[in-house]
Amino acid sequence: MADVGVVGGTGREGFALGVRWAAAGLSVFLGSRVRERGQEAARRAAALDLPGAVSGGTNREAAGAEVVVLAVPFHAHEEVLPDVAPLVRGKVVVDTTVSLVSVDPPQLSLPPEGSAAQRVQAMLPGARVVAAFHTVSAHKLAQLGRELEEDTLLCGDDPTAKARVAQLAQALGLRPVDAGGLDQASTLERLAALVVGLNRRYRRKAVGVRFVGL
Ligand SMILES: NC(=O)c1ccc[n+]([C@@H]2O[C@H](COP(=O)([O-])OP(=O)(O)OC[C@H]3O[C@@H](n4cnc5c(N)ncnc54)[C@H](OP(=O)(O)O)[C@@H]3O)[C@@H](O)[C@H]2O)c1
Repeated sequence: MADVGVVGGTGREGFALGVRWAAAGLSVFLGSRVRERGQEAARRAAALDLPGAVSGGTNREAAGAEVVVLAVPFHAHEEVLPDVAPLVRGKVVVDTTVSLVSVDPPQLSLPPEGSAAQRVQAMLPGARVVAAFHTVSAHKLAQLGRELEEDTLLCGDDPTAKARVAQLAQALGLRPVDAGGLDQASTLERLAALVVGLNRRYRRKAVGVRFVGL
């Protein structure tokens, strides 16, 4: 069983997170709606000759990992989540989703549940959902030699699950910051929208968040 399975592991954020964890020595499975795309992403990652094993295939296979990371667009949840729901009961599921509908200006479409992460929790009953990594740019993650030197806020209702995700954040070189229960996740998602706007305004690709005084 892989340490981390990424649902949407062929995308910018999912692939970059997977590669960073493999660089830290973890075993990673990159999932896709199409098995061959997941396998091709794993070949690209393996070509980087990283310490951790990388394999790839379907999102359902990715959901077999110890910790499952969701890195698909908000609008893809209806398509992707029912497929993995029976496989993630009891598991730690990390939601990275920012429900952006426009980047200029950045606008979110928060669902009736309150946040994308709370909607994920409703769609994945029994999963131990932790919201994290919203403000960590794929562009920066993909530059393997670059120190991240930033924080990531974590929200979740299961302390053990949150502690496991904090370890995974530390493996990436991030400082995990406990931001409370899953009912706080909309604040994280709004913060990510702010970061997207700052990237546009200052013509950057890797604005991140670091808190002082903690
Ligand atoms: N990019 C960032 O810097 C960043 C930072 C923080 C959080 N995030 C979050 O990470 C998630 C993914 O963002 P991304 O930038 O990595 O997006 P992306 O490059 O477009 O990748 C998304 C992946 O999701 C999969 N997918 C499944 N269903 C889909 C559908 N109906 N339409 C499109 N793609 C679908 C695709 O994989 P297959 O086609 O192989 O199935 C695709 O590779 C988003 O929720 C975003 O808010 C992104």
